[in-house]
Amino acid sequence: MTNNILEMRGITKTFPGVKALANVNFEVERGQIHAICGENGAGKSTLMKVLSGVYPHGTYDGDIVFEGEEVAFKSLRDSEAKGIVIIHQELALSPYLSIAENIFLNNERTRGGLIDWNKTNFEAASLLKRVGLKENPTTVINQLGVGKQQLVEIAKALSKEVKLLILDEPTAALNDEDSDHLLDLILSLKAEGITSIIISHKLNEIKKVADTVTVIRDGKTIETIAKSDVTEDRIIKDMVGRDLEHRYPDHEPHIGEELLRVEDWTAHHPQDASRVMVDNVSINVRAGEIVGIAGLMGAGRTEFAMSLFGHSYGSRISGKVFMRGKEIKTRTVAEAIENGIAYATEDRKTFGLNLIEDIKRNISMASLEKLTKGGLVDDNEEYKVANEYRRDLNIKAPNVLVKTGKLSGGNQQKVVLSKWIYSDPDVLILDEPTRGIDVGAKYEIYTIINRLAASGKGIIVISSELPELLGISDRVYALSEGRITGELPVEEATPESVLKLMTMEKPR
Ligand SMILES: Nc1ncnc2c1ncn2[C@@H]1O[C@H](COP(=O)(O)OP(=O)(O)OP(=O)(O)O)[C@@H](O)[C@H]1O
Ligand SMILES: [Mg+2]
Repeated sequence: MTNNILEMRGITKTFPGVKALANVNFEVERGQIHAICGENGAGKSTLMKVLSGVYPHGTYDGDIVFEGEEVAFKSLRDSEAKGIVIIHQELALSPYLSIAENIFLNNERTRGGLIDWNKTNFEAASLLKRVGLKENPTTVINQLGVGKQQLVEIAKALSKEVKLLILDEPTAALNDEDSDHLLDLILSLKAEGITSIIISHKLNEIKKVADTVTVIRDGKTIETIAKSDVTEDRIIKDMVGRDLEHRYPDHEPHIGEELLRVEDWTAHHPQDASRVMVDNVSINVRAGEIVGIAGLMGAGRTEFAMSLFGHSYGSRISGKVFMRGKEIKTRTVAEAIENGIAYATEDRKTFGLNLIEDIKRNISMASLEKLTKGGLVDDNEEYKVANEYRRDLNIKAPNVLVKTGKLSGGNQQKVVLSKWIYSDPDVLILDEPTRGIDVGAKYEIYTIINRLAASGKGIIVISSELPELLGISDRVYALSEGRITGELPVEEATPESVLKLMTMEKPR
């Protein structure tokens, strides 16, 4: 008798033009934490969607045995009824509902047929405590950053009777501290007997929590490795099919004149104008320079970038912006782009992509004027350009006419990057550019960042992964509670010194 809670046998799943899974076998032992690794587009999310009934029985080949019983889920509801809960890669919360409403959506706490708000908020508060999120249950979701939203997703999963918890890149949006917290949470759920499947591109955290690792490449199971045999090098080799010697490409900076200078940038909370979110931030970027911005979740990095980029965030925004010494305005996105600033967002679903449009149009979207002749978009040119980016960034899709909504998470991210690179800004702000990107593709993206810098652009990178930030930047700013708390050339920056600046509190 095996002690498997789950056995998936010979799973094959085809989309028009794509064989996402080809005869995959996957077994999970009860009570374990089982990790799935693989490159962007390898089929990880698809396998989990097959398991959870997102792709109903009949739309795939193969068998699924859960708790010794063959199952044929027709929907998510069916799998949840058996205790399988999936937290998707793309956050799926309702932006205008409160935290508590989201947690108990379709699972309402009622009394006498009415929603029992006391109970709803009370239970939500205790779940929030369990996941370590210090927010009021009545707070509306769109007030939270993606990192906090992820914690709400976990709380929502815990509100159900979960036996097998599936987490598709749960820590992609979280900083180290919150990731650690989440991983500890998964470990404590394991102690309670809950089995987890975790998909992640962060190999260090896989090593930390996983009992077993299965690597998938091109829709096929490569191997399943027990904890004692897991090494990062072995996983990488399985993933990409070869050894990867360096994590960061060499970068010889050739730093030129100052491009962007921001002085005393201040932005207040959009709803509560008394809260200062970005506090007198002054930074500059020179041609050929890669500048990193470090900060914990909630430090105001994204708020700074978005308020600068077309006042897309915040209220009562003040401060000065200069490009090559000349004062410019960035009051709208169009004005910011016109003045040479582009911002590639961490939240690709809301701001970065139009999921119902194809790859080609998503890439050209911010630069249509470049492709327009006599009022018409030059289709051939648009196609050609998009194809070049597909090749350069290795976007996994049969062609550029595929709708971006059909791409895997990491490949969507590459489309967002292509779009902003093609807009050819003087200064490109990249917010978590490698979030959800596999190790091989990360290297490609770092290479592209280097190439942009070498061509004289100024690059600002916001990243929660400190090793990455220090690995690619020439100079680093630290942000804490909306303020710049320090600035270091990368030679002087160590993880410890930067972390110290990141956690520096305001004198009170
Ligand atoms: N609904 C869909 N329609 C068409 N093709 C799809 C669809 N969903 C996924 N695919 C394709 O199937 C393949 C596997 O995608 P999947 O999302 O499972 O990858 P993944 O391993 O989760 O990658 P990532 O790490 O980037 O999230 C990709 O080539 C993707 O483009
Ligand atoms: Mg995925």
